[in-house]
Amino acid sequence: MSLVIANIGQLVTLDPAEPERPIRSDAALVIEAGRVAWVGAAAEAPAADSRIDAEGAAVIPGFVDSHSHLVFAGDRVDEFEARMAGRPYTAGGIRTTVAATRAASDDELRARLHHLVGQARAQGTTTLEIKSGYGLTVADEVRSLRLAREVTAETTFLGAHVVPAEFTDDRAAYVDLVCGDMLTACAPYARWVDVFIDSGAFAVDDARRILLAGRDAGLGLRVHAGQLAADGGVALAVELGAASVDHCTFLTDSDVEALAESARGGGGTVATLLPLVEFSTKQPYPDARRLLDAGAAVALASDGNPGSNFSTSMPLAIALAVRELGMTPLEALAAATRGGAQALRRADVGHLGVGARGDAVILDAPDFRHLAYRPGVPLVRRVLVGGEAAQ
Ligand code: NIG
Ligand code: FE
Repeated sequence: MSLVIANIGQLVTLDPAEPERPIRSDAALVIEAGRVAWVGAAAEAPAADSRIDAEGAAVIPGFVDSHSHLVFAGDRVDEFEARMAGRPYTAGGIRTTVAATRAASDDELRARLHHLVGQARAQGTTTLEIKSGYGLTVADEVRSLRLAREVTAETTFLGAHVVPAEFTDDRAAYVDLVCGDMLTACAPYARWVDVFIDSGAFAVDDARRILLAGRDAGLGLRVHAGQLAADGGVALAVELGAASVDHCTFLTDSDVEALAESARGGGGTVATLLPLVEFSTKQPYPDARRLLDAGAAVALASDGNPGSNFSTSMPLAIALAVRELGMTPLEALAAATRGGAQALRRADVGHLGVGARGDAVILDAPDFRHLAYRPGVPLVRRVLVGGEAAQ
């Protein structure tokens, strides 16, 4: 089956094969067998089995949200309200969600997860990474990852989210469990391993052990670092060749240099910024300009979770990146698409070059910059995943 999207006023391909031409006007796009098969001038569009008329609107690659925590029960809206009144965010709230998640049935968790993924899709997210991390027992972490695997291939084992209450007096035993039985049971359902480095969670030395164990189990590496302080996590992520280090709100000059150095030649550690977290915690925003000017690779992701940010809106993340992080609209869009793909080491998504998966978003706008210009307005008109309408 083939599909032509005709009459595209502005087509943002971000095709890595055409770096000097990320945007075309008056274009058309053909998707065949789930992949982009042809890109060119609207007037030269070939016939196809079916046709969508974009009516002059902008078409962009689907968003690649490379960081979320969507397997959980309950919410923490009271904590959010207290933060808005001045209480600082701390990792401690995670335990509240762990208790609710452990108490929930599989069906409750699945229904919530599917609902949240549907909301992300409706806002243009076509590739989504999902972490465990609210189970923190062997059985509850496996359950979280099994459920996440029902909706995405990009699953991440985050047994090292916080030390659960029952291990408060024996942190070392919990790290042993994460590196041992928990990892062994979870690895078949995970592509990645992640650790939350923070004074309320895990130290750099714990993280090194856990990440190396995950690597030995065949998982790729991701790290939460620099959310509340410059904590040494960025240097560790770069040293171990992690695909991504996420948050990066607090960075030293040497962190920035290390990220830039690792980006040289491609394939290094991506700095993934999560501005919805700063929005929802009243923390200072990270400085994307500093990273981009140094030559680091930058991604934008949602970090949708019940604590530090309960939004999966990539359009809002883009608007904040332009308003608060010093990114141009095109840099922000690229970070939310190709940047996310790079953070997941995926070449087949995040762009609309020939051969890419047919993941496209037709906007209710003539120009992609409206994503930042019109924050909060539902500009995602139609979402295609592999050329098919997303449910
Ligand atoms: O990425 N930082 C650690 N984990 C999440 C927050 C989880 C929570 O507060 O429930 C984050 O912000
Ligand atoms: Fe997170």
